[in-house]
Amino acid sequence: AFEVVLARSGRSVRVTPECSVLDAVRDAGVPVLSSCEQGLCGTCETGVLEGTPDHRDTLLDDDERRQGDRMMICVSRSCGDRLVLDL
Ligand code: FES
Repeated sequence: AFEVVLARSGRSVRVTPECSVLDAVRDAGVPVLSSCEQGLCGTCETGVLEGTPDHRDTLLDDDERRQGDRMMICVSRSCGDRLVLDL
């Protein structure tokens, strides 16, 4: 599991292995748009302010993955124990 901090509200949510970042954020009451929920469409793209995303989408290219400043929260996860998102 890892922690996701929602920078705009200062809220923090825990993301367990069974749960996506998208679900955890929604459970915290923050509405996020999504469509495919498979890392294909880009609707859920979210800015990453701190932490290193574990990219599991099929949209970002290698450079964008390395930059790590955005992620598809429907499928991607965290390499470390904390991510701060621009939400
Ligand atoms: Fe389509 Fe996340 S909802 S990439």
